[in-house]
Amino acid sequence: MDLGLKNRVAIVTGAGSQIGFGRAIALTLAREGCHVAVSDVDLNGAKETARDVEAAGVKALALKADVTRYDDVVAMVEATLAKFRKIDILVNNAGVCTPPKPFLKMTDEEWNRDIAVNLNGTMYCTRAVLPHMIENNYGKIVNITSGAGIHGGFYTNAYAAAKAGVIAFTKGIAKEAAPHKINVNCVSPGVANTGFARQAPPGMLERVVKTIPIGRLTEPQDIANAVVFLASDAASDIVGQVLVVTGSVDP
Ligand SMILES: NC(=O)c1ccc[n+]([C@@H]2O[C@H](COP(=O)([O-])OP(=O)(O)OC[C@H]3O[C@@H](n4cnc5c(N)ncnc54)[C@H](O)[C@@H]3O)[C@@H](O)[C@H]2O)c1
Repeated sequence: MDLGLKNRVAIVTGAGSQIGFGRAIALTLAREGCHVAVSDVDLNGAKETARDVEAAGVKALALKADVTRYDDVVAMVEATLAKFRKIDILVNNAGVCTPPKPFLKMTDEEWNRDIAVNLNGTMYCTRAVLPHMIENNYGKIVNITSGAGIHGGFYTNAYAAAKAGVIAFTKGIAKEAAPHKINVNCVSPGVANTGFARQAPPGMLERVVKTIPIGRLTEPQDIANAVVFLASDAASDIVGQVLVVTGSVDP
């Protein structure tokens, strides 16, 4: 199946983590012939990913952007347009989760940070990219949500509320954008051993694996495959959906 991604241009946020989903997404897009703006609050990480994107034979741009700051996001979009002249794909992958704690112990600062990065960041990047996609009458936006946003988090209420917001936002924007040939969808990953796992209590990942029918954690490549499919024309009839990639029936 030809995914039709050759010479497309993508922005992937949160792609600086060398063990995270964003890097795998950027590299998989690159292997399909897509040029990639690699964005992260961590510029060194973004540069490292961008080097590997270029090694796949396409063009890359490393950008420092904090998705909670709208001026950063606008600068990210302007720099991408200046280099590539278009943006076909936006992957809203940047995310954080306050280490698990009972709701009554969570501070306003922690609550606001989870909402700011996961939900407002997705909203800001979408707001900055959408006018350009509407003008081009083409676009693919893939948002990374979480099972916590579907079934509620346990001790991660702000994160869960933000990710539930991402799903609702995705569905609403998907309806507005579809007439412009813009597809907006979500991927909901299973538990993976990325930067997120650093805050997991000892033994948690081993316990989680025992509950997964497929018998292993989700790998960044599993998520990259799903994102790249939704970012391709093979998925042009898919609008406002949540693709659950967990090795399980459950999100
Ligand atoms: N790992 C999991 O088990 C899991 C499960 C479900 C969903 N997710 C989601 O997957 C996405 C990717 O996370 P990951 O697991 O690869 O973790 P990760 O920590 O490896 O990567 C997250 C990246 O986001 C970047 N980032 C953080 N705050 C940012 C900001 N304000 N602006 C720009 N970039 C910022 C970080 O620098 C990092 O590179 C997140 O949205 C996360 O919520 C992860």
